[in-house]
Amino acid sequence: MSLPKFAFFKGKIVPYSEARIGVLTHTLNYGTGAFGGLRGYWNSEAEELYVFRPRDHFRRFLNSAKLLCMNLPYGEEDLTLATLDLVRRENHRTDCYIRPLAYFGDETIGVRLHNLHAEVSIVSLPFGSYVPNEEDLHATISSWRRVDDNVIPARGKIAGSYVNSALAKTDAQRSGYDEAIVLNENGHVSEGSAENFYLIRGGVAIAPPITENILEGITRWTMMVLLRDEIGVEVVERPIDRSEVYLAEEAFFCGTGVQMAAITRVDHRPIGTGKMGPITARLRKLYFDVVRGRVPKYLHWCAPVYRALEAAAPQVRSLP
Ligand SMILES: Cc1ncc(COP(=O)(O)O)c(C=O)c1O
Repeated sequence: MSLPKFAFFKGKIVPYSEARIGVLTHTLNYGTGAFGGLRGYWNSEAEELYVFRPRDHFRRFLNSAKLLCMNLPYGEEDLTLATLDLVRRENHRTDCYIRPLAYFGDETIGVRLHNLHAEVSIVSLPFGSYVPNEEDLHATISSWRRVDDNVIPARGKIAGSYVNSALAKTDAQRSGYDEAIVLNENGHVSEGSAENFYLIRGGVAIAPPITENILEGITRWTMMVLLRDEIGVEVVERPIDRSEVYLAEEAFFCGTGVQMAAITRVDHRPIGTGKMGPITARLRKLYFDVVRGRVPKYLHWCAPVYRALEAAAPQVRSLP
């Protein structure tokens, strides 16, 4: 993985080598940070790079920071503008991944969330697939349990809680699986290690509700709209038992990183036919058309990087 050339750091874009923090930084020691993950998709016909749903990502980012009592001097529009500026400076002509981070920059000892100073950094780098086999994943039900809302709120993207995700992911991969499905303390499916979960049963798409200790995923909402409005599949949000997963007709993970990955086996049991199912396949194709800015109806979700100046008036305000 090559490093970015630039970073948004302390309110301006600087060479990446200048975006440095000390080893005593609060967030590095205590996990007291909130982060985001966005993707930019290169559309070769339009010669344009589209950042997918940046305002929705930054709304969740600011909410995650709010859970950590952070006071940030930026709003959704500021962060969207800074991101588009940064990505333009990187001059990507390929798909990319954008990583905003809100962190307590104080170099100090003491576990707390108050009397600390929050900062934001953003970087962007070329990025391909997060999992190698997006059409044929073998998942396992993890023995780790998802962090509970009263432990570390899973609805926010909070740095420290990714230890929970990393434990589940590493155990799954070391046991020969591609990804983990993590249950919550009630024994219901929450999500994957870093992606939301859907299954199809009786032709209906079923997703765990956001009260099941899941991240409030942007891709999860996107899939809900596309399933209902474009594929014509009913979507139900309700708790999912472990054994329902084994009996599903289809199942998939979705998220900015994983994009949309078909789960074809869980714990050595075939899901449906053991091959990517028809609803998953249609949705997957549509999803990639949408994020790449090829579906006019959903172009409002795609923020153009290079044409931003003339095409997206609200995005061109200058940073304060
Ligand atoms: C734990 C977890 N769940 C779900 C997701 C998917 O969220 P989104 O669609 O907003 O990227 C992520 C994404 O990074 C994640 O880390």
